[in-house]
Amino acid sequence: MPKAEVTFEDIGVTLAVPAGTRLIEISEQAGAGILYGCREGDCGTCMVKIVSGAEHLAEPSTLEDQVLKDNLASLDTRLACQAQILGGHVVVRPA
Ligand code: FES
Repeated sequence: MPKAEVTFEDIGVTLAVPAGTRLIEISEQAGAGILYGCREGDCGTCMVKIVSGAEHLAEPSTLEDQVLKDNLASLDTRLACQAQILGGHVVVRPA
């Protein structure tokens, strides 16, 4: 299975994970400070800044796009419960 790497800038931890993993699952493993609520792409609590490697994340769904817009999120923001890493190396920090 293809591998990917995620670095959590807030705690200085990098984890290797299978491609297709959602950022929130990786954050839980790493003990990073990304908060969450619904885990269904609805509440907007889990917003994260993508510091680098945004091109390695699956495109946001219509639902994710709408929640980000409703929360006036900047373009480098994603929902950790929705964003799946596809490969490569992504660096994130809590929004
Ligand atoms: S936890 Fe609610 S949108 Fe991600």
